[in-house]
Amino acid sequence: MGFQERIELQLKKISGQAIPLEIPPSPELGEYALPCFSLSKRFKKSPHDTAEDIASQFSLEGVTTQVNGPYVNFFIDKEALATSILPEAIKKTYGKGKEKKTVVVDYSGPNVAKHMGVHNIRSTVIGRAIYNLHTYAGHKTIGTNYVGDWGTNFGQLIVAVQKWSSEKKVKECGVKELNRVYVKFHKELEKIPSLEAEARAAFQQLEAENKDAKKFWKLFRDVSLADYNKIYQRMGISFDEIRGEAAAVPEAESTLKALKRFTKKDQGALVVPFKTMPPCLLIKSDGASTYGLRDLSTALYRIKKFSPDKVLYVVDVAQKLHFKQVFCVLKKFRKKNEDIFEHVVFGRLRFNDKSMSTRKGNIILLEDVLEKAVEKVMNTIKEKNPKLKNKQQVAEEVGIGAVIFHDLFSDRAKDIVFDWDQVLSLEGDSGPYVQYAHARCCSVLKKYKKEITAKISFALLTNKEEFSVVKLLASFPEILQQATAANKPSLLAKYLVDVASAFNTLYGHHTILDEDKDIAKARVFLVAATKNVLSLGLSLLNIKTPEEM
Ligand code: ARG
Repeated sequence: MGFQERIELQLKKISGQAIPLEIPPSPELGEYALPCFSLSKRFKKSPHDTAEDIASQFSLEGVTTQVNGPYVNFFIDKEALATSILPEAIKKTYGKGKEKKTVVVDYSGPNVAKHMGVHNIRSTVIGRAIYNLHTYAGHKTIGTNYVGDWGTNFGQLIVAVQKWSSEKKVKECGVKELNRVYVKFHKELEKIPSLEAEARAAFQQLEAENKDAKKFWKLFRDVSLADYNKIYQRMGISFDEIRGEAAAVPEAESTLKALKRFTKKDQGALVVPFKTMPPCLLIKSDGASTYGLRDLSTALYRIKKFSPDKVLYVVDVAQKLHFKQVFCVLKKFRKKNEDIFEHVVFGRLRFNDKSMSTRKGNIILLEDVLEKAVEKVMNTIKEKNPKLKNKQQVAEEVGIGAVIFHDLFSDRAKDIVFDWDQVLSLEGDSGPYVQYAHARCCSVLKKYKKEITAKISFALLTNKEEFSVVKLLASFPEILQQATAANKPSLLAKYLVDVASAFNTLYGHHTILDEDKDIAKARVFLVAATKNVLSLGLSLLNIKTPEEM
């Protein structure tokens, strides 16, 4: 148990209630602070007197207290903290949890026949980090890719391929060709409005399981997934399940039956009405099934198959209403009060210069972003570290790490503006900055030829710079818990920048290897623990950790 937990536990005993500690704004105020405003009612004293009272009853080895107005400040003994934390922080399982819930993470979900655009990166990397965090917390996690492989656009594609392309060409050129004819379809539609009816008829054939229509559908799906897989592979992502919208289509009937008592006909369509929001559309007036119905069927399938305690949908803020409606229907149906479904919302990726649209054909491909990032890193390596071995691999790991980190660093709820310079930045609050600190640790450890052991004097690790690293390493488990509970990988990303920066300060102020034997031994241990935490943290964000760069 870390100091924070131990202090909180004892405070709970003293005050009879659990109050989370705060981190004071400056180090002179100690490592933790307890605000006594809300406790003062229970103690029937002023907040200051309450603080005095609590401080006088508090006693924990390695911790001293100081009352400061309405706060009790806690100071951790530097040596005690290093002694208790560093031997833990060096373990490969540091911060690993023992949770046991079953969590389904629905992420990535690109729309078949469309390019994986840079906007697809958000769900993919945020979802993957959330998946990793839950797995590390001990949960049984199922990462599922709910690909958009159904919808009226398939009717349009079938018509378009029949008119302007061929099976052979689609097989050869994949999504690129599908995209070409899709754009053409929408251009032609402006001149020939009857194309719309043709496409609708083709989609109806598909819904009626017509063999030829199905064959086209399968082709579109296969070539798209093959293209997406290349990108997933490059980003180190795989799924436990790839089950798209189409798989939910045959379940429509049984879902409608199960939901019958909540549904209502509305101008030829079938909906679930609500009092306070627009109805959830299940069947359109032309008889076509909807995105909503397919999500409902899929949710029922997931409940049956996995008995999940949580289902997280990592999806764009634009679908807020959709999920609110779907979850409301599920709640009515399940008659249970607990909310196992959660829309993990993220903001949009906005573009300064132009808007992206598959229909118009202007879209920034994720593939190109990755490629450019890797190229830029390669140029930097050639310039700054031309002797580096495995240049190509390192460039790949750092370039892709930069793109992933850039997306994860800001609070997911915020919109981010796509800016080439920022995405490709190798400095400041960036992935390469953290990777570089990690590589620096590796290089120190490599040069230290002796055994790294915990048989050190922890009292030697108490100067200001060392203490700030130790303190940060101590809070790693806490950060992981927070990031997992709030589904916010950004908390971990920010933390890693802090660790990297504290380590760089230490590295800049003190020598490590050229020191007195005992000091070197102790500092090397701290470096090893830092390296371990940086490497664990980056891997949870799905970012590689090259040892040299
Ligand atoms: N294919 C959808 C889109 O691109 C995302 C899927 C999200 N997941 C879900 N269960 N609806 O908008």
